[in-house]
Amino acid sequence: MGIAYGADYNPEQWPEEVWAQDLELMRRAHVTMVTLGIFSWARAEPRPGTYDFGWLDRVLDGLDGAGIAVCLATMTASPPPWLSRLHPGILPEDADGRRRWPGARQHYCPSSPVYREHAGRLVERLAARYAGHPALALWHIGNEYGCHTHQCFCPVSARHFRRWLRERYGTVGALNDAWSTAFWSQSYGDFEEVLPPRTAPTFPNPAQQLDYQRFSDRALLECFLAEKAVLARHSPGVPVTTNLMPDHRPVDAFAWSAHMDVMALDFYQDPFVPDDHIRAAYNFDLMRSARGGQPWLLLEQAPGAVNWRARNGPKPPGAMRLWSWQAVAQGADAVLFFQWRQSLGGAEKFHSAVVPHGGTGTRIFREAAALGRELASVPRISGTRSRARVALLADWDSRRALELDSRPSTALEQPRLALDHYRPLFEAGVACDVLPPGRELSGYRLVVVPSLYLLTAADARRLTSYVAGGGHLLVSFFSGIVDRCDRVHPGGCPAPLREVLGLWVEEFWPLEEGATVHVHGAVRGRADLWSEVIVAEGAEVLARFADGALAGGPAVTRHGYGRGTAWYVGTRLEPAALRALLDEVRAAAGVRPVLAGLPAGVQATVREGAGGRFLFLLNHETAAVEVALPQPMVSLLDGGGADSTAGGSGRGGAPMRRQAVERALVERVTLPGRGVAVLSGAEDVPGAADRPGGQLPKGRTAQGP
Ligand code: GAL
Repeated sequence: MGIAYGADYNPEQWPEEVWAQDLELMRRAHVTMVTLGIFSWARAEPRPGTYDFGWLDRVLDGLDGAGIAVCLATMTASPPPWLSRLHPGILPEDADGRRRWPGARQHYCPSSPVYREHAGRLVERLAARYAGHPALALWHIGNEYGCHTHQCFCPVSARHFRRWLRERYGTVGALNDAWSTAFWSQSYGDFEEVLPPRTAPTFPNPAQQLDYQRFSDRALLECFLAEKAVLARHSPGVPVTTNLMPDHRPVDAFAWSAHMDVMALDFYQDPFVPDDHIRAAYNFDLMRSARGGQPWLLLEQAPGAVNWRARNGPKPPGAMRLWSWQAVAQGADAVLFFQWRQSLGGAEKFHSAVVPHGGTGTRIFREAAALGRELASVPRISGTRSRARVALLADWDSRRALELDSRPSTALEQPRLALDHYRPLFEAGVACDVLPPGRELSGYRLVVVPSLYLLTAADARRLTSYVAGGGHLLVSFFSGIVDRCDRVHPGGCPAPLREVLGLWVEEFWPLEEGATVHVHGAVRGRADLWSEVIVAEGAEVLARFADGALAGGPAVTRHGYGRGTAWYVGTRLEPAALRALLDEVRAAAGVRPVLAGLPAGVQATVREGAGGRFLFLLNHETAAVEVALPQPMVSLLDGGGADSTAGGSGRGGAPMRRQAVERALVERVTLPGRGVAVLSGAEDVPGAADRPGGQLPKGRTAQGP
């Protein structure tokens, strides 16, 4: 137990002498887990069917001896050169029919049976050999599925697509109906006529494009599942994961979550973007929510700069610590970096690593070692969970459909719109889950629906009965427009939400780039991107457009429905205006922040469970702030100061240097710039409960209602 701490470990890039040094340095950095072998296929199978695992045996044994757990990769993310030489058909093709050549990574067609067969054979060997290895803690399949090759348009993929369509639709008539092929003379007489949406003279059929995105996601998932089946046969009980990417359209994290034993994310905050921690927070909440609050793993982040942005900002002092604790505060039970030792050659030699080119006498190594020590000092956090009363709905199908071409405006991008709505909740200090529309919503007091363009009638009915039963719902423009096949719901947009919202939209009125309008009434402020002609049919108009072509028309409405209330926003409000609206909506829903009166820039979260109850305070600003606590608490961290090089925490996360922890009860905490505090009630800290005032009042919690 304990928060796992470590990095991607790529020993094949180094001579064996370095490996012993690595183990010593991992001990100094308090590493408890490494991800091993992600890109080792060429080393493990240097020629077809000839395997070399001797080196890997030595690495695993060494790690085991050092008490370091292994997240063992299946090595299938980058096929070796011999495979594409023997079978060029495994190489992917783009929509213009151009081949993607080997020489980088992920150069395989996800539908290729040849790729799958060779991958399966390798995984079979790996699983048979290492299933019982004492260091094995977790399997890591592939790497960032769909990162570079998320769709392939080759003939093998085309055949696979047709099989998938046959299973989905049964008859070509059903396919024609689903794809609205009566339009532009696209009707099919036979499944054999169907192709992937390769580059065409103009807009390809949108339902076909949408299905191709679903199919391509499924093809990747099949690769994952095929490998998972092999692992399950050899090592039942050893959890299996893969590292997902944030905001990543090709892979539906909610759909994949049903097949992963534990969710895992790679997240690279951009130090040059001052509020990138809010994008991180959104993605972390999504990871936590995907499997019902189960702790997740931050499998990759950079210790410093990355190498793949146009300008790669280094992490300033304290940022590595702050952003790592942010993940833990939002439910992560692992904090790993890419990568352990900085490469000397290859495309990532300027990407930071825990052991930089300059060695251990470096700020990055010192900060990483101090963080390792600190994380190990609070092992009881792992396994604890958080609770939210607000759910924000996100959906891959809807995003994919919204972001296709030939819409009223190409400026509607789902991650941006979702973040617009998440940000005011985050800034108000409200705990939030991020869920797909099909999940159980009855436990939430407020559900926020940012521009869910594609919404099935069934999901719209669920939202309607959620409100009828007393729920509070806020829906933004261009929601509930089309069904699963990108066909407009008949009956006046947004037809399936019309009853619950008490309105319909006669005309969409997207705004020109850079154009703004104003709204006035109970909500005031600037708006951009979108407006629309709203016809209220029962809804109360809270604010109207003050200028522009729709001046005088409704912009924001509220509708009492059953025992609940539904709000509607027909434009993109500037942040302050949306914040004001959401504050009111929250007040009506009775949703309070985790901690009242938080200074701006401070994030507060709570995790609780068998290990106790933990309040996390994270100062995302660079100036010091003081935070008043809800009751006297014990601060569990000692400030993340200098590294202790004495002793390692080892696998199992044995408590480190507990004597360094400040045990006095405090009523206020001073957080330095980028500072972090983790606090517990006295009853959760051995040795502190007997102090005067040391008990938390029964039933009191720092968490919202
Ligand atoms: C990730 C990838 C890693 C490494 C890293 C660099 O996308 O999984 O292998 O390339 O980026 O930031």
